[in-house]
Amino acid sequence: MDKIHSLTGMLDHYNDGDKENMSVKIFETEKRIRKIFLNYKYSEIRTPALEDTNLFIRSAGDASDIVNKEIYSFDDKNNKNIALRPEGTASVIRAVIEKKLDQSSHKLWYMGPMWRYERPQKGRYRQFYQAGVEILGYHEGAAEFEIISMVCSIIEEFSIENCTVKINHLGDEESKKLFCNALVSYLEPFKDQLDEKDLSRLSKNPLRVLDSKNTETQSLLKNAPSLKDFIKPSALSLLEKIENEYKDICNIEIDYTLVRGLDYYSGFVFEALSSELGAQDSFLGGGRYDSLSSKLGGKSLPSIGMAIGIERFASLIKNFTVSNKIVSFITLTSNLESKPYKIAHQLRSLNSNIVLDLQLSEGSLKSKLRKANKNNSDYAIIIGEEELKDGTAVIKFLNDELKDQQTVSIKELLSFYKAL
Ligand code: HAM
Repeated sequence: MDKIHSLTGMLDHYNDGDKENMSVKIFETEKRIRKIFLNYKYSEIRTPALEDTNLFIRSAGDASDIVNKEIYSFDDKNNKNIALRPEGTASVIRAVIEKKLDQSSHKLWYMGPMWRYERPQKGRYRQFYQAGVEILGYHEGAAEFEIISMVCSIIEEFSIENCTVKINHLGDEESKKLFCNALVSYLEPFKDQLDEKDLSRLSKNPLRVLDSKNTETQSLLKNAPSLKDFIKPSALSLLEKIENEYKDICNIEIDYTLVRGLDYYSGFVFEALSSELGAQDSFLGGGRYDSLSSKLGGKSLPSIGMAIGIERFASLIKNFTVSNKIVSFITLTSNLESKPYKIAHQLRSLNSNIVLDLQLSEGSLKSKLRKANKNNSDYAIIIGEEELKDGTAVIKFLNDELKDQQTVSIKELLSFYKAL
């Protein structure tokens, strides 16, 4: 029989407790980011993985790569075209409108899988995970400072090095339009030097040309008009204030060529990048999208948000420490002897901070201790026939150079474990 392969190109991560292991880093990333969201007093929102495909066509825009080639969509049994969500923002706004929550302000977070039909490669998967926030109902100002503060908190929490937070302002509708007109006039005479993708961007959403990966286009853009000369003084001042206030916390810089891959943005935008990620160097991105709610049929709802790519972010974590102590529980009695399992249960309920690895396999003490060492266990608790008869247990200090051990009563074992 033929083997069945993953459709998504995603790595199948397996958590075996090794601190260098990607799965452990992903787990810790999700746990600590969730804590940051809660500390900032955001509320969780869970949206479905499946949505009407039109939601993404109307929100991301037909000049975006997402809509052009990356939507993972198909007809359901009712011949309705549905898509696996490629991002979280459109779903959040759809939910807020549907639940009639679009007349008030909200600070929301979410975490979960997203799908984009991309060519799988390092840092780019067809199924990947995002953690994101959406701040709804606040005009430009405080929310921009809050979101950059959160980005810095996340970078600080994991001591991510060699990363830059780039910020820009796409202007309001009027200045964006003026800039796009100037850009089109500038590029018009060079049209025959643009590739098919950039030509299409030029006609559908000229701003996206700034994001071209084509080196010829990039060299043409060196002399192109700059957004800096089109946005209002208040926008320039916001960028400067954010750069000045946060530059001592994280490496933040204004980049007037920064644009985003989704069409719904206007105003303040940002991306966090790391040179360690290779071609897919952006691990976080976001910005303001004030017109999305009304575009999707809701009330006017000024909004700003961001999302982190969990796999890309986790791969940047170094010097990773798991603070919990690990104890291996080794029985050398018959596998069906119930008493040791009851003791393991009592230990677990006495101290939930400890990771207790009850070894389920049969085998020699030597092989079980080898496994305990491989698991980075700090201690092994050993119960054999003799200990069972005497009502005792052996505690082996695996971090100790001498690998010392001590026989204690079960009562002493319980108090030792509780105090760990
Ligand atoms: P985005 O920049 O398209 O923004 O995605 C955010 C992050 O998701 C990226 O920086 C990247 O780390 C990760 N990512 C995207 N595609 C892939 C992939 N194929 N494989 C692995 N990671 C990937 C958004 O999605 C917006 N919804 C962010 C936002 C929220 N803006 C406002 N609110």
